[in-house]
Amino acid sequence: MKDLIKKLTEVCSPSGREDAIADTILDLLKGHIDGYERDRLGNLIVWKKGRSGKKILLDAHMDEIGVIVTNIDENGFLRIDPIGGVNPRILLGARLIIDEVVGVVGVEGESRDELEENLKKMSFDKIYVDIGVRSKEEAEKKVRIGSFGTYLPCFADLGNRILSKSMDDRVGCAVLVEVLREIDDPKNDVYCVFAVQEEVGIVGARVAGFDIEPDVAVAVDVTGVGDTPKALKRISMRLGCGPALKVMDGRTISDRKLLNMMENLARELGIPYQMEVLPFGGTDAFGYQLTRSGIPSMTLSIPTRYIHTPNEMVDFNDVLNTVKLLREFVKI
Ligand code: CO
Ligand code: ZN
Repeated sequence: MKDLIKKLTEVCSPSGREDAIADTILDLLKGHIDGYERDRLGNLIVWKKGRSGKKILLDAHMDEIGVIVTNIDENGFLRIDPIGGVNPRILLGARLIIDEVVGVVGVEGESRDELEENLKKMSFDKIYVDIGVRSKEEAEKKVRIGSFGTYLPCFADLGNRILSKSMDDRVGCAVLVEVLREIDDPKNDVYCVFAVQEEVGIVGARVAGFDIEPDVAVAVDVTGVGDTPKALKRISMRLGCGPALKVMDGRTISDRKLLNMMENLARELGIPYQMEVLPFGGTDAFGYQLTRSGIPSMTLSIPTRYIHTPNEMVDFNDVLNTVKLLREFVKI
């Protein structure tokens, strides 16, 4: 399972450029699914047929945050804009990979005062990417306006905890892949959506459920935690305390019946879990709730530290317990 997470997080596929990650996921699912489709937006939809006539949709978004090249100067330095929630402060000093070219993010400042000021009020106007070239011509042989980039892969296995770029939401993709591999002859139809463009406004999930018309939808995604020094006091989630059953976030109130069902199941199985209220954010569950006449939806979250940085940390047992819970959930 750690290998699976490593493999999925190492693929560079920001929002709008999901082909590489879709191919990787399909490859990992060979022999474990009854069929698949890429819809017109690019969502990868795979299924396994059951006997009950009930349809369960599981979702994980396969895109990741990233950057896009907006301009290239005379000396070959790149200017960038964010794809999704990327903080320029966190980009500083980070390694990026843009069209297979590695670069590092630097900050402007002609005097010490200006540099201090820029560091304090960081913005995309003040940072640039150095890809190790000396001129615009040289740069243009490698990248162009509109090239997409992500953090450079940097998976690390710390034992109980694992660290990587794009745990958001490749760890969710890994959970779905593992669930599909572990269930044979499911009771219900299981549809897994690997959605596009979640990070730029929950785009893929708004259309993916339309043709499937599932009875319920469960989005699997990461959530913030309050278990680091001076973390947000209003957040209760912690690493290692099990999957988080989302009651509400900034976009969605989870379906009450579905949430109760999931909680009862976790209790019956003796799987550790925690309740989640996130005062901000949103997941693909939002998209399913607004599909057709409304699909009862919820989010099952994997608690994660340092979300949207190059080093997102999850607890390995939380991941395993999420797989266990969903594997049983599709049988209900
Ligand atoms: Co995210
Ligand atoms: Zn996410």
